[in-house]
Amino acid sequence: MTTDFFKYQAQTTPHPIAMEISHAEGSYIYDKKNNPHLDFVAGVSACPLGHNHPKVVKAIKTQLNKYMHVMVYGEYILEPPVELTKLLAKNLPGNLEKTYLTNSGTEAVEGALKLAKRFTGRSEIIAAKNGYHGNTMGAMSVMGFEERKQAFRPLIPDVKFIEFNKKEDLSIITEKTACIILETIQGGAGFITPVDGYLEAVRNRCNDTGTLLILDEIQPGIGRTGKLFGFEHYKCTPDILVMGKGLGGGMPIGAFTASRALMDVLQDRPKLGHITTFGGHPVIAASALATLQEVLSSNLMRDVFEKEALIRKLLIHPLISEIRGMGLMLALIMPSKEITDQLIIESQKHRLILFWLLFEPKAVRITPPLTISNKEIIEGCNIIIRILDRIQSGSID
Ligand SMILES: Cc1ncc(COP(=O)(O)O)c(C=O)c1O
Repeated sequence: MTTDFFKYQAQTTPHPIAMEISHAEGSYIYDKKNNPHLDFVAGVSACPLGHNHPKVVKAIKTQLNKYMHVMVYGEYILEPPVELTKLLAKNLPGNLEKTYLTNSGTEAVEGALKLAKRFTGRSEIIAAKNGYHGNTMGAMSVMGFEERKQAFRPLIPDVKFIEFNKKEDLSIITEKTACIILETIQGGAGFITPVDGYLEAVRNRCNDTGTLLILDEIQPGIGRTGKLFGFEHYKCTPDILVMGKGLGGGMPIGAFTASRALMDVLQDRPKLGHITTFGGHPVIAASALATLQEVLSSNLMRDVFEKEALIRKLLIHPLISEIRGMGLMLALIMPSKEITDQLIIESQKHRLILFWLLFEPKAVRITPPLTISNKEIIEGCNIIIRILDRIQSGSID
């Protein structure tokens, strides 16, 4: 299988982890020898309920027994996407009411950018340095990391970049700006949270200039910060909210939500101006609906703060200079890239799954499922501390 993996399946790096998976359940992923690996990554924030949550599996199977794909997005009335978009609307503030479902996060970003251009009739887009929004051409155009996009230029024109958390930069937003797109918490950059008053200042500047604010909640969304969406910690509601990852409960999804007045412009001039075959797929939507229902009806969001506190209490070590982020979206900042690599690679040998962040080489990702137990947190953190002790004493090279 390993030979075929390298021979036939396209790779994204020359050195993938290449662990062969047998099955997964709860907070554990099992390899082919049936060894459990404790998951502190949750499919890169995509599995809020852990692996194979019974309610999600049941919803998928129930829907599978009825129908799968029957028609392109938006033509027929299918219960799962209708119920899903309705539940989102019920739990969103302001006039965030209508949701367009996509197949991935990056496609939701594409839709949000198109909607902003179409609604405002403007072309300028502002994004943040070190921001990440996906890998299709539009999303890559608003990625604030030149090294990763240089090879793919030309990208879409009229994109300007500002420094995240720098209020002075906001004057760059003018009446010519269609939208500003920001991650509520910058992920790839190392889980950078907005400083006091920053998002509120962005909101005010957008109001003053008629610019639409797009918040990308693909990582913090669906309870990871202890609220359904990260922006709920701040006095700032976006015009367009972008979701993905955790919403699918382990299935591929993306979504963008806006007011009815905004979203309805996508219906016309041109008609069929934003279409998708599989977006809103009934099986995926059933999985997302079950996931959202569970996150909303359980104590999972409430317990996020206690779990964060436990991780912060346990992960005190001279090699951890800082723990960034919020809730169960945490990044350990190590003294160097080498130590980050050592910790992540060594933890694999001890059957603890950790991972890197995209742009911050000193960061170690800790984004476990929201369902992780305190006992599992203690187990994983003890492994990290033991490895760091060995790195510090020079017994790992
Ligand atoms: C903040 C953010 N936006 C967009 C995306 C892209 O989502 P997808 O990989 O589903 O296309 C990601 C994925 O990591 C992300 O973290």
